[in-house]
Amino acid sequence: MGIKGRDFLSAADINAEEALALFELAKRYKEQRHAKIEHDEPLKGKKVAMLFQKPSLRTRVTFELAVHELGGYPVILTQSEVGLGQREAVKDVARNLDRWVDAIVARVFEHETLVEMAEWAKAPVINALSDLEHPCQAVADLFTLWEIWGDVRNRNLTFVGDGFNVAHSLLLLCATLGVNCTVATPKGYEPKEAIVLKAKEIASKSNAQIVITNDPIEAVRNAEALYTDVWASMGQEAEAEKRKRDFARFQVNTQLLKHAPSGVFVMHCLPAHRGEEITDEVLDATFSLAWEQAENRLHAQKALLAKILGGD
Ligand code: CP
Ligand code: NVA
Repeated sequence: MGIKGRDFLSAADINAEEALALFELAKRYKEQRHAKIEHDEPLKGKKVAMLFQKPSLRTRVTFELAVHELGGYPVILTQSEVGLGQREAVKDVARNLDRWVDAIVARVFEHETLVEMAEWAKAPVINALSDLEHPCQAVADLFTLWEIWGDVRNRNLTFVGDGFNVAHSLLLLCATLGVNCTVATPKGYEPKEAIVLKAKEIASKSNAQIVITNDPIEAVRNAEALYTDVWASMGQEAEAEKRKRDFARFQVNTQLLKHAPSGVFVMHCLPAHRGEEITDEVLDATFSLAWEQAENRLHAQKALLAKILGGD
């Protein structure tokens, strides 16, 4: 039972019970860290490789600290040294790492790379962001809302922006946890159909409402949490100017917030492109959860590693 020994490539890889168990453990780790109380070290003697094909601040720092604080040893690898899929075939890198470490955390361009690594490594593979999903982010985000709301079922989260990796994982985890999820994107930037279908299938059991729309104003009318992400993700820099035009109506600003209920929280996975998808005023507001989300990456990933590697 539980997620011990399992890969975590998609937010749909965990069920509601497993997600809530992660939140409970993350809460405990958070309290212990704030109180400067030593906690158990379920990763004692375990080594975790972390491979980054793209830049990172939050994921890199929080995973490295997470492994360290749980008593394990992190090995950080960048694309320039490993040359995943270039200097060496993906399956060969996976088979090598598998001989040395107990888990592989990887941030990749193509999701398929993670799937291939998971196929060839017996060690669990954890998705630290791909072009399809960012499931560790979603766990930290829903943990952040669970801390505020307690029972998250039937609450309303609206994502306004690009229907890409972050939106995909949010859709799936919201569906699992019974959180109503609305995603508003410009035409042509909707979330992938396979993800929406999967989210709807999961939501049919949890009674969550999944709505995809091109109308940002309608989308925020019932929002209790309003989430956004950059318009041009890592790897899409060449499209940045076109995207600025296409997404102009989708900026999270004071004007858009006028259409949302009072008390709405604003969320962002960061990094933010201030003045594009979100204004300074909104990102820096007291109702912005961005910094809490960033902190919670650490606690949530500690819980994830402890469950996958330690079986706590
Ligand atoms: N939110 C997030 O994953 O940030 P980084 O890209 O800095 O890791
Ligand atoms: N969608 C963004 C998320 C960064 C954490 C990207 O892929 O660059």
